[in-house]
Amino acid sequence: MIAIGCDHGAVELKNQMVEHLKKRGIECKDVGTYTKESCDYPVYAHKVTDLINSGECELGILICGTGIGMSIAANKVKGIRAALCSDCFSAQATREHNNANVLCLGARVIGPELAFRIADTFLDADFSNDERHIRRISMLEEDN
Ligand code: RB5
Repeated sequence: MIAIGCDHGAVELKNQMVEHLKKRGIECKDVGTYTKESCDYPVYAHKVTDLINSGECELGILICGTGIGMSIAANKVKGIRAALCSDCFSAQATREHNNANVLCLGARVIGPELAFRIADTFLDADFSNDERHIRRISMLEEDN
């Protein structure tokens, strides 16, 4: 189960992403927002990170206008490694090297087709489990 959330700047892309993933047989827990009424992105970032930290969802997707606010908010939460990606190479590398558990996207930065490919790449990639990456990730945990 994938947790997904967005702010008012990304409702359309979030809804399209839910449909795209559904076609791939991937169910999403959609925490909102559901309208274009102005809202605060940290609220939705925290709804998604809560689902990951509770173990209810393994991975999350957060979308705002730039993806930046969502990534800043998510990365302040212990146990969360959020990666803002605008390309597939980074999406794959961040799963393999950083064991990122949240993908952030900018709805005003990339179009839906690229966003779908980036999400597919992120969700299909696995952590490498390499000793050096495990060590580096455990060093990140000391930062919080
Ligand atoms: C909302 O206008 C915009 O600031 C937000 O979507 C996001 O880009 C923040 O980082």
